[in-house]
Amino acid sequence: MPNPLIYLALALSAVLVVFPLPSAAQPPSNPDVEALLRWNQSLPNQTIVSSWILNQTNGNSSALSPCNWRGISCNSAGNVTGLNLAYAGLQGTLDHLNFSYFPLLLHLDLIDNRLNGIIPANIGLLSNLVYLDLSNNSFSGTIPLSIANLTKVVELDFSLNNITGQLDLRLFPDRGSSQAKTGLLSIQRLLFTNNLLSGPLPSEIGNLAYLTLLALDDNYFFGPIPQSLGNLSKVTQLYLNQNHFSGQIPKNFGTLTELTHLFLFSNNLSGAVPEQIGNLSSLVVVHLTWNNLSGQLPPQVCQGGRLVNFTAGYNNFTGPIPVSLKNCTSLYRVRLEYNQLTGNLDQDFGVYPNLTHINLSHNKLQGKILPTWAECRNLQFLSFSKNHLNGSIPYQIGNLVKLQILLDLSHNKIHGKIYKWDGYNEY
Ligand SMILES: *[C@@H]1O[C@H](CO)[C@@H](O)[C@H](O)[C@H]1NC(C)=O
Ligand SMILES: *[C@@H]1O[C@H](CO)[C@@H](O)[C@H](O)[C@H]1NC(C)=O
Ligand SMILES: *[C@@H]1O[C@H](CO)[C@@H](O)[C@H](O)[C@H]1NC(C)=O
Ligand SMILES: *[C@@H]1O[C@H](CO)[C@@H](O)[C@H](O)[C@H]1NC(C)=O
Ligand SMILES: *[C@@H]1O[C@H](CO)[C@@H](O)[C@H](O)[C@H]1NC(C)=O
Ligand SMILES: *[C@@H]1O[C@H](CO)[C@@H](O)[C@H](O)[C@H]1NC(C)=O
Ligand SMILES: *[C@@H]1O[C@H](CO)[C@@H](O)[C@H](O)[C@H]1NC(C)=O
Ligand SMILES: *[C@@H]1O[C@H](CO)[C@@H](O)[C@H](O)[C@H]1NC(C)=O
Ligand SMILES: *[C@@H]1O[C@H](CO)[C@@H](O)[C@H](O)[C@H]1NC(C)=O
Ligand SMILES: *[C@@H]1O[C@H](CO)[C@@H](O)[C@H](O)[C@H]1NC(C)=O
Ligand SMILES: *[C@@H]1O[C@H](CO)[C@@H](O)[C@H](O)[C@H]1NC(C)=O
Ligand SMILES: *[C@@H]1O[C@H](CO)[C@@H](O)[C@H](O)[C@H]1NC(C)=O
Repeated sequence: MPNPLIYLALALSAVLVVFPLPSAAQPPSNPDVEALLRWNQSLPNQTIVSSWILNQTNGNSSALSPCNWRGISCNSAGNVTGLNLAYAGLQGTLDHLNFSYFPLLLHLDLIDNRLNGIIPANIGLLSNLVYLDLSNNSFSGTIPLSIANLTKVVELDFSLNNITGQLDLRLFPDRGSSQAKTGLLSIQRLLFTNNLLSGPLPSEIGNLAYLTLLALDDNYFFGPIPQSLGNLSKVTQLYLNQNHFSGQIPKNFGTLTELTHLFLFSNNLSGAVPEQIGNLSSLVVVHLTWNNLSGQLPPQVCQGGRLVNFTAGYNNFTGPIPVSLKNCTSLYRVRLEYNQLTGNLDQDFGVYPNLTHINLSHNKLQGKILPTWAECRNLQFLSFSKNHLNGSIPYQIGNLVKLQILLDLSHNKIHGKIYKWDGYNEY
């Protein structure tokens, strides 16, 4: 910790610079204004905040309110309730922003600046805060434990920073969520995407009763995915991709009936995907690629008829193509390459008006290519290479005007030629 005396000295010098000793001719000072200006003075080369100027004319004390300053909003009593300086080109730190002056702050939005340093512990004084977005800056250090004081925060976004350390279990409510006094009791959207966080996830994260979105992707978390995440009954979007999670996908994920986005790619997950996951009829995007998963793909993964993007490539899946894919007309992008899937190409697939990309290469599929693939009018990428296909290429495939990347049928026993192209592409 820096020496508090240094802070005091800095604070005092800032006050002295901005406010020479008040004389009778000058308006009364406003502590909020002082606190904001002290921060302003600490920021090098900032532009936006330089509009924060004092209008000390005619001793008009209302001109001393910060409420009309850019980025500041107030309630009707003139208390500062919002600080919104997103995309403002701010550099510097929050070290000189003394949050104790803003107990009624509801909204703190500093997204996409160049702020660095730590997230100060006194941010925990903002006990009325509802919205906190520090994403896309260069904050480092750990998440202050005082965040557990922000019991009213609904959205907290620290994504795209350099935050280190672990998620302390005390950030979350303890077991009795309704009786709990501290922790992120009201949180609905919690985002830590793309930081340097690590360690295992505390199971207390499953006590966030109102959570709809959890984004922990692109960090260094390891250990198992806690079973308790299956208790997040309101969760719609779960981003756990690009970490080092291991072990199995919790069985009770099959009870997350609101889930639309399940991102688990690029981890070390193993074992089978719980079949119940296929019973989730809300699924829109499922990404399982780059794990060590095995067993069958959930047969009913498109049960809800809403599945748009589905990837499970680079695993060790065996068994058939999920039966529900046949009627899954909502599909846009499908990647199941590099598995050991069996099945019959002329029976397992239907017609997909929106499909742009399908990669089934490096599997054990049999059968032949039906002319119905030519009815997938939006296809741009189609690969069946390294399977056990036979038959010939239907001439209708040549009508797929958007098919531009490749029609890769190599390493099958296919004969015939593709109209529009000269032979097969090797990929
Ligand atoms: C501030 O701006 C000056 C002049 O443009 C530049 O020399 C200096 O490096 C800048 N400082 C920071 C911290 O960016
Ligand atoms: C805010 O900071 C800028 C430069 O850092 C300075 O020019 C300006 O005077 C400050 N505003 C006030 C009201 O002190
Ligand atoms: C003080 O400022 C406010 C807003 O800028 C203005 O409406 C009001 O007339 C001013 N009062 C005096 C006495 O100048
Ligand atoms: C201060 O005065 C300037 C110029 O007179 C005006 O543009 C600005 O809106 C005023 N700021 C506040 C906070 O009243
Ligand atoms: C809010 O503003 C009112 C009126 O200026 C003031 O009396 C009160 O102390 C302020 N409350 C806080 C918590 O700052
Ligand atoms: C913030 O302001 C409060 C009240 O003036 C003061 O007690 C505290 O020391 C200040 N904190 C910092 C870090 O300047
Ligand atoms: C938590 O908020 C309360 C006010 O609600 C405050 O007194 C306390 O100091 C805060 N604790 C931390 C760790 O910030
Ligand atoms: C994180 O730190 C690294 C190394 O210091 C730096 O290259 C990178 O730009 C930083 N990222 C952010 C978002 O600040
Ligand atoms: C599906 O994937 C494409 C390509 O990556 C992307 O542009 C699109 O937004 C995704 N759709 C959904 C619903 O996420
Ligand atoms: C895939 O599974 C098969 C049998 O289930 C096993 O023999 C093989 O080693 C596995 N491959 C990998 C890369 O895990
Ligand atoms: C596909 O849809 C048809 C007609 O709606 C239905 O009879 C069939 O059972 C469905 N097949 C699957 C695998 O859902
Ligand atoms: C195809 O995509 C369009 C535009 O995103 C959408 O409105 C339509 O419902 C989709 N079709 C199917 C069958 O899902």
